[in-house]
Amino acid sequence: MTTKQPKGKLVSKTAPNLFTERIEEFKVLFPEVFTEGKIDFDKLKQALEEETDGKPERYSFTWAGKRDAIRLLQVPSRATLEPAKDESVNFDSTHNVFIEGDNLEIFKILWKSYFGQIKLIYIDPPYNTGADIIYQDNYSDPLGTYLTFSGQKDLDGNLLISNPETSGRYHSTWLSMMYPRLFFARQLLRDDGAIFVSIDDTELANLRLMMNEIFGEENFLGCVVRATGTTTGQDSRRFGSSFDYLVVYSKSTGYEVGGVPLSEEDATRFSEEDEKGRYSSLQLRKTGRADRREDRPAMYYPTEAPDGTKVFPIGPGGYESRWRCGPQTYKRLMMEGLIEWKRVKKDGKEQWVPYVKYYFEGREKRPSPLWIDLDGNKKATIEVKELLGERIFDNPKPIALIKRILQIVTETDTNDITLDFFAGSCTTAHSVLELNREDGGNRQFIMMQLPEPTPEDSTARKAGYNSIAEIGKERIRRVIAEMNKHAEGKMNFNSGESGEDLGFKVFKLAESNYRSWTGVEDKDPEAYAKQMELYLDPLVEGWQEENVIYEVALKEGYSLGCLIEKVDKITENNIWGVTDKDKGQSFYICLDDDIKEDAVKTLELNADYLFICRDKALTDELAANLALQCNLKVI
Ligand SMILES: C[S@@+](CC[C@H](N)C(=O)[O-])C[C@H]1O[C@@H](n2cnc3c(N)ncnc32)[C@H](O)[C@@H]1O
Repeated sequence: MTTKQPKGKLVSKTAPNLFTERIEEFKVLFPEVFTEGKIDFDKLKQALEEETDGKPERYSFTWAGKRDAIRLLQVPSRATLEPAKDESVNFDSTHNVFIEGDNLEIFKILWKSYFGQIKLIYIDPPYNTGADIIYQDNYSDPLGTYLTFSGQKDLDGNLLISNPETSGRYHSTWLSMMYPRLFFARQLLRDDGAIFVSIDDTELANLRLMMNEIFGEENFLGCVVRATGTTTGQDSRRFGSSFDYLVVYSKSTGYEVGGVPLSEEDATRFSEEDEKGRYSSLQLRKTGRADRREDRPAMYYPTEAPDGTKVFPIGPGGYESRWRCGPQTYKRLMMEGLIEWKRVKKDGKEQWVPYVKYYFEGREKRPSPLWIDLDGNKKATIEVKELLGERIFDNPKPIALIKRILQIVTETDTNDITLDFFAGSCTTAHSVLELNREDGGNRQFIMMQLPEPTPEDSTARKAGYNSIAEIGKERIRRVIAEMNKHAEGKMNFNSGESGEDLGFKVFKLAESNYRSWTGVEDKDPEAYAKQMELYLDPLVEGWQEENVIYEVALKEGYSLGCLIEKVDKITENNIWGVTDKDKGQSFYICLDDDIKEDAVKTLELNADYLFICRDKALTDELAANLALQCNLKVI
């Protein structure tokens, strides 16, 4: 039997590989170090001689299994995402997404579609306290192991392991799980994006070191201490702790930390008013006793009062202080009309005193003092209980915490996407929906959550939730239902282009629709020929049209928000148009066994169009015509 050549370029059968694409970029930068497609390390060393640190000792951060964790990044994915419309709300119009599956496999499928698209990542991974369960990656067959685990294959899965402190690889196991996931997360962040990671004392130090390596130490924005409102660990030999942390990094050094809008209470401080609006004023002179002239001599200079007299920063009783800014900034403030001179009684007589004006309009609170007034974990548990009726999820994060992060990082009107890839009960999705309702924002969310089984005798299982993914999805559905109730009669809140997006689309991690080559072992020629013939159909038995279209779209780098519409003017064939509005790209796809020339003619294809169909559907003549007319790809 001879293998036939495909009649067009083949649609890729695996998700785009991050590693391969990085090597391609490297080839462009250093073409001279490649010999027959492989890197020649001697040449690379020569090329980078100046930059090489030849010293035997250097700073490094490593753990048992790090090499394998990096290798895992390079294992291509054989998976796809299948839509689950019956579990979604407003599937066809929403931009919000919930994906059920192992986040690493999902990242491998999605990284190209969402590369540099995510404004905010918030995660609350397992803290590795010994009590929580760590997903264990299987390097040789990551997808197979996941499918077994999630019950999509009938063997017993054995993927989640508890990681007790006594285990010889306690920290290493956690680090190996986190490393590839954080690595992918960085690829998805926008240049002006940021990541917030909740963590406690157990892995804080390791997380910082790992994030320094992945995100760059120069992008560390801070480590926020948060009062949890509950105390843990008092019974062990350590201090009890009532805090956890948020470790924050930006994607690049260009990131500007935003603030949150001032509250009504803050606004009362802006009690003065002029033609530009409400303002408050502060003395230009630093008024603290510790602000002495000799410590900052450059900040002691004369300013000119409205009557032409020279004024120095001199406090009561002749104490020599300093101004808030240097002479250059003072000049700018003057030009911008932000210096106000007031007649003030000082040392018994009226004198000119300069003030700086701070206008209310557009002012925000900076993040540093913002975390003390937030709800603790008890409130978070009540929030979930109120919505789902019972206490079915342990340790969710408070909505107020995530809303504050959203306010600091995201804008209200730029469709900013927030990703949470350890979604749990989906507090992040809840917060996005609630904040959008409050400030009219159009933020979107992507949740990823493992179908981690709920414990056999748990309240959650008794209430009908077999996995944490089910809890997360139900929480989102109930939040949407509540919001719809409150919107009734007020305005049109149907999800759509201009309205509030009260929907979410569910996808599930599943095995690819492409048949994988398992080899043909049968020695009997007839059985061998039959197996080979089967393999000639690249799609698996029982494939579904919509699932294949989504798989092709993702492999072509389209996002999950892409629109799939039947081209209705054609009757002879089922042809679908797939459009990714955000990226301004589209393609046509037809999965019929036989394509009629007339049907394709109706599409009026030209070189800008991508047309995808099954290889077997084309005659040689039609394939040649199509290849001349447009960009033809075959399955
Ligand atoms: C601490 S919880 C997150 C809680 C969440 N912040 C909330 O407020 O509900 C961490 C979640 O990550 C999930 N998880 C662990 N490993 C995962 C993986 N490989 N992929 C996706 N989710 C995972 C666990 O099932 C768990 O529900």
